[in-house]
Amino acid sequence: MKIVCIGGGPAGLYFALLMKQLDPRHDITVVERNKPYDTFGWGVVFSDATMDNMRQWDPPTAAEIQQAFNHWDDIELKFKGRILRSGGHGFVGIGRKKLLNILQARCEQLGVKLQFETEVDSDADFPDADLIIASDGINSKVRSKYAPIFKPDIVTRPNRYIWLGTHRLYDAFTFTFEKTEHGWFQAHIYKFDADTTTYIVETPEHVWKAHGLDKAGMDESIAFCEKLFAEDLQGHKLMTNARHLRGSAWLNFQRVTCEQWSHFNGRAHVVLMGDAVHTAHFAIGSGTKLAIEDAIELTRQFKGLGDTPEQIPEVLQRYQALRRVDVLRLQNAAWNAMEWFEAVGERYADQLPPEQFMYSMLTRSQRISHENLRLRDKAWLKGFERWFAERAGLQLPAHVPAPPPMFTPYTVRAVTLKNRVVVSPMAQYSCVDGLPGDFHFVHLGARALGGAGMVVAEMTCPSPDARITPGCPGLWNEAQRDAWKRIVEVVHRQSDAKIALQLGHAGPKGSTNAPWDASGADHPLPAGNWPLIAASALPYLDDGAVPRAMTRADMDRVRDDFVRSTRYAAEAGFDWLELHCAHGYLLSSFISPLTNRRSDDYGGSLAHRLRYPLEVFAAVREAWPKHLPLSVRISAHDWVDGGITPDDAVQIARAFKDVGADMIDCSSGQVSALQKPTYGRMYQTPFADRIRNEAGIATIAVGAISEADHVNSIIAAGRADLCAVARPHLANPAWTLTEAAKIGYTPMPWPKQYLAGKSQMETLFAREKAQQVVPMYREPA
Ligand SMILES: Cc1cc2nc3c(=O)[nH]c(=O)nc-3n(C[C@H](O)[C@H](O)[C@H](O)COP(=O)(O)OP(=O)(O)OC[C@H]3O[C@@H](n4cnc5c(N)ncnc54)[C@H](O)[C@@H]3O)c2cc1C
Ligand SMILES: Cc1cc2nc3c(=O)[nH]c(=O)nc-3n(C[C@H](O)[C@H](O)[C@H](O)COP(=O)(O)O)c2cc1C
Repeated sequence: MKIVCIGGGPAGLYFALLMKQLDPRHDITVVERNKPYDTFGWGVVFSDATMDNMRQWDPPTAAEIQQAFNHWDDIELKFKGRILRSGGHGFVGIGRKKLLNILQARCEQLGVKLQFETEVDSDADFPDADLIIASDGINSKVRSKYAPIFKPDIVTRPNRYIWLGTHRLYDAFTFTFEKTEHGWFQAHIYKFDADTTTYIVETPEHVWKAHGLDKAGMDESIAFCEKLFAEDLQGHKLMTNARHLRGSAWLNFQRVTCEQWSHFNGRAHVVLMGDAVHTAHFAIGSGTKLAIEDAIELTRQFKGLGDTPEQIPEVLQRYQALRRVDVLRLQNAAWNAMEWFEAVGERYADQLPPEQFMYSMLTRSQRISHENLRLRDKAWLKGFERWFAERAGLQLPAHVPAPPPMFTPYTVRAVTLKNRVVVSPMAQYSCVDGLPGDFHFVHLGARALGGAGMVVAEMTCPSPDARITPGCPGLWNEAQRDAWKRIVEVVHRQSDAKIALQLGHAGPKGSTNAPWDASGADHPLPAGNWPLIAASALPYLDDGAVPRAMTRADMDRVRDDFVRSTRYAAEAGFDWLELHCAHGYLLSSFISPLTNRRSDDYGGSLAHRLRYPLEVFAAVREAWPKHLPLSVRISAHDWVDGGITPDDAVQIARAFKDVGADMIDCSSGQVSALQKPTYGRMYQTPFADRIRNEAGIATIAVGAISEADHVNSIIAAGRADLCAVARPHLANPAWTLTEAAKIGYTPMPWPKQYLAGKSQMETLFAREKAQQVVPMYREPA
């Protein structure tokens, strides 16, 4: 085959040498605009895993790289005068020049033609090629030429960064944070050869501008960074090797993805590779890894299907299908890490103590979990767990190991939860006349025995017309109060769990079927409907019942109903109350602009839309005993254009905080039938994280939190204070006890009647674990 690689970066060179090695008869040329030793940048990092991959595919190259690279294990954080360090992270650093030279030499050795100082204008320059690799980097001309086919999506991110070098040597991947009068700067620092270190300085656009760096040239920018990081640099200079850059020396990261990766141009197949087709932010240092792995995958496909021109279409199809998934996974992790660095100043650096800041930084990509950190550096995690437990109020003798964060207590007002797990409220549609009965007694009782710190009873309604379905519970009369009291008392008598009540009014989503009824959830009852009220006269479903827009008299009545229920809840003995302002129900219908179209004082701006929910909250707070907590559940994202966004959610949380809310329970969606949520593990946790760290109020994270490792990671990183777990508790009332056993946390207290099951379960899980080969993600944190 005749193969041309446009661009002699890691992607083009590595693919060329792998294919030549596969069959020396291939005629392969790499065309590069620069001279052989002329390149930008300093060192690149990749992980031990990438090195293993390279060792399999071309041992001589891997051996050369191995000799040239710097390997190190530790990550060091310099923050607020402290230095924190953790190990086991396994990086490889190599100079970009050195890497390219190794690849170039190997290409020459195998007979790949290298053509330097040649600017390629177009793939049409190679009419007799069978295959053209567009490995021409982030600003790929080939990608631009075929933009309507490749459909690139290029997102320019707000932070500014400058890629510098220094001769100050570091023995760990180092992150340094410095605060100026205008905001935070951070440096990502890694040594990559015997006498040079990469030094990337990054800051938000507004901070960069406030310092006048938008008008600064390269020398002024370097001088600024040297002064800012003087203490860290210990008298060493910063250097650039990017004087060729036009415009500002400070760049914005561009995230590139493409819908289509290859195209037949009439003569040859053209395929994108490396940065030309996808980029990953340097926050997890994986751009070179992706380029190398693209080259490996394309070669693997040729090896498997046959390296002949006839096979090219199928090879390219499979290459794209397989790589797309891996690349997306890595891009997602890189995106999380990038966002962490974009928000780090005000959201984390200003809020979190250094120990927790370090934990948050190490888990920023959300690929590295608590147990993963334990595998990397057991001693460091042990120290962190002790620090966390002591901050949570535990006083432990030195010989007693600290519990994982999930099993530390949490106190709000006069209520202390024994751990951080909450059974999330879940409607059971099983009441008659709003009375919780034997089902609820057993259901909530079983979950109280199951190890969670608190059980939240399902949405309970302050009046008959506030119910979602005829099966929903109520708290508008004494009979209901007494039925709840019976349940609360059994929870208190038989367990050390707390029990909360969630109070909510269904508003526009009332008078519907139970989910298991013929026409399904959210659809109107076939008979026996009641009139609905809402912020505005808008139905939830297009064919649903149309509510009446509330009058002020309605508002008074509903507020007073909430207050009556609050008093009954206190009399029933609940430990905690939650006001349901989420999911499109009555109070939520005021908050979202999608459901509130009022033109009076209760509609319009967010502040006005919040007026009525805040009025109800204040009345409830007044009626609820002072020593007991009151939380609010909100939909932090409507997942619909024009609806509530996470930015709004921070404002909403602040407003509730100002009127005395203790916690925000951060759910999302169900406000509009048009919603398009992005589901995934812990998918709503970013809302809890933002609200906690930007609005400065405690939060409950909820949504696809399904293992102890999730809870530990969330709580430890300060992304939330409690984790609510819903569906897993339907299948397993003892979810918390099970998860404790799974992670080997044997001091977990169990109900004495169940102790025989404890040791058996622990033994079985320990045996299972011993037989497992634990896959450990070795990519940079
Ligand atoms: C600040 C920063 C830090 C980074 N840190 C890391 C890191 O730690 N680890 C990591 O893995 N990655 C890192 N990267 C990313 C990494 O540099 C790229 O992802 C990687 O180089 C991609 O390889 P590539 O071969 O696809 O593209 P490139 O390395 O960009 O190579 C493309 C080549 O094509 C040539 N070319 C372009 N157009 C033409 C043309 N028309 N004619 C001829 N030649 C052409 C260019 O001169 C260049 O040599 C970092 C990037 C930045 C910006
Ligand atoms: C059957 C069921 C009923 C629910 N009822 C309520 C409810 O009454 N109030 C509420 O705020 N959320 C309710 N939810 C949402 C859950 O509390 C939780 O936010 C959601 O299920 C996501 O958590 P999970 O992924 O752990 O299930 C319900 C969820 C389920 C599955």
